[in-house]
Amino acid sequence: MGSMGILGIETSCDETAAAVVKDGTKILSNVIASSVELHQKTGGIIPEVAAREQLKCIIPVIEEALAQVSNKSKLYAIRSTLYANIDVIAVTVGPGLIGSLLVGVETAKTLAYAWKKPIVPINHLQAHLYANWLTPENKQQRTNNKVPGFPAIGLVVSGGHTDLVLMRDHGKIKWLGGTRDDAAGECFDKTARVLGLSYPGGPEIAKLAEKGLPAGKAGNPQAYDLPRPMIRQENLDFSFSGLKTAVINLKRKQKRINKANLAAGIQQAIIDVLVEKTIRAAKKHKVKSVLLAGGVAANKQLREQMTAEIQKLKSKISLFIPPPKLCTDNATYIASCAYFNFKPIPWQKIEVNPGLSIELLVTSY
Ligand code: KG4
Ligand code: ZN
Repeated sequence: MGSMGILGIETSCDETAAAVVKDGTKILSNVIASSVELHQKTGGIIPEVAAREQLKCIIPVIEEALAQVSNKSKLYAIRSTLYANIDVIAVTVGPGLIGSLLVGVETAKTLAYAWKKPIVPINHLQAHLYANWLTPENKQQRTNNKVPGFPAIGLVVSGGHTDLVLMRDHGKIKWLGGTRDDAAGECFDKTARVLGLSYPGGPEIAKLAEKGLPAGKAGNPQAYDLPRPMIRQENLDFSFSGLKTAVINLKRKQKRINKANLAAGIQQAIIDVLVEKTIRAAKKHKVKSVLLAGGVAANKQLREQMTAEIQKLKSKISLFIPPPKLCTDNATYIASCAYFNFKPIPWQKIEVNPGLSIELLVTSY
């Protein structure tokens, strides 16, 4: 196969993103418009608002992604795929918010038709894992110059999902466990709200735990006794809603709360369960690699603690964690996923699938 330029399009939630990736690994452009500021006012995402924002941003974002590659003016870019060397279009079809997804999918189909290019439908959750195959924009080569070896355990931790999967190869994904209620990111977001922090809560909690309040003394993760739901259970499932309830009750009972300590405690409780179950899965399936992905994988403490625990293992397992910028939603990994799972289908057959599960190859529906 010759060199392949893929335009990735991602609109599953509140980010409108487009990126051009060469041969599944080299990022040529990465453009993201986020409506997060709008959602901060309401403390969470209102789907209708997110979809309307997607509609406003999608064309300018794609134009910018193409313009950055072609070095032509934006005005020119969308009409001229030749300049951008686009061979394929990849688009997230699910899971996600239906209104948001539709904007990306209909745009991608229109472009595929107009440009006569193949289009590959992409599962957003599987795609998150492909951030581990990408070389960051500012680097000549990957950090350790290695690509993930199979079999691998993937931990996808985002605002809407917490899933552990066994990846035997590209396109061969088996779901091992996941959350029974709230996702890890959702738990960060909801407990942050209880603490009066803004949306999205993960980075806010991490900041407060690290810097302390008043700034200078980091929060003590042991100050409050918080639950680690299901941590001792053999299965690879998670449950985070109990942690949220514990935080609400604590706040109700105690008039004076040290917010930095509580933030550190919440963060540590989430990390403990994620690390424990990921290591358990890695040992059980005797894998070569562990891959982290999703917005929560941007968490510094999670990255450090997972690294330390994997290093302690007797068997040699390589841990891959994308740079924080590639953990949160963007379109680079959508394009990368399409390269390694290259199954184009006629644009007429492509539909959004808001409830798509992580195991499903999009082409099988
Ligand atoms: O993958 P993502 O960008 O979007 C979804 O597909 O959901 O993940 C967003 C989630 C949010 O819940 C956000 O609070 C969380 O990732 N997040 C973090 C951090 N950065 C983002 N959680 C903990 N620490 C962070 N540094
Ligand atoms: Zn995501």
